[in-house]
Amino acid sequence: MEFSELIRVRRSHRKFTAQAVERQKVEAILKAGLLAPSGKSVYPCEFVVVDEPDVLTKLSQAKAHGASLVANAPLAIVVIADTSKSDVWVEDASIATTLIMLEAENQGLGACWVQMHLRGTDDGVPATENLRKLLNLKPEHEVLAVVAIGYKAEEKPARTDADLKFEKVHHLTL
Ligand SMILES: Cc1cc2nc3c(=O)[nH]c(=O)nc-3n(C[C@H](O)[C@H](O)[C@H](O)COP(=O)(O)O)c2cc1C
Repeated sequence: MEFSELIRVRRSHRKFTAQAVERQKVEAILKAGLLAPSGKSVYPCEFVVVDEPDVLTKLSQAKAHGASLVANAPLAIVVIADTSKSDVWVEDASIATTLIMLEAENQGLGACWVQMHLRGTDDGVPATENLRKLLNLKPEHEVLAVVAIGYKAEEKPARTDADLKFEKVHHLTL
């Protein structure tokens, strides 16, 4: 699929079939994350691959809202960054997360970005703190997002030009 087509058809998928994701597809997706550019070439991001149903369920409970879909995904990639290494770790991790989602689509899979950074439980526990305990992360590690991945249980329409808000584009004329 051409890149312009790929970015049109990529949608957030939250319902997956039970089919496991093949190892070579997981590897291709991880390569995409590792290929992401990084400010000052620091590369502070790391990736935790989860396919254990119990752990997927616990990931889905790390924050109060918008993460329940992770429990029903066959695979999740937790995107973490060593915040002591880079002041632009959010940007680095966001690009890696984006490339992971695009490569998942390229592999014929569906994916959804589930935000963890700046999110938490209703009683105020940061999602990262819950995930740090669950995944045995270092104190300087912060979790940007969990990407839920799997075979799509339903199709979603590709975006067309009619969906795009061209009024948000400003051409500077002097
Ligand atoms: C920074 C960011 C955080 C997001 N967090 C969540 C989330 O926690 N849970 C969720 O179900 N979707 C999440 N999404 C997916 C968005 O809801 C989705 O991208 C948006 O509705 C547009 O739909 P589309 O991805 O199909 O184009 C997130 C997306 C981004 C970019």
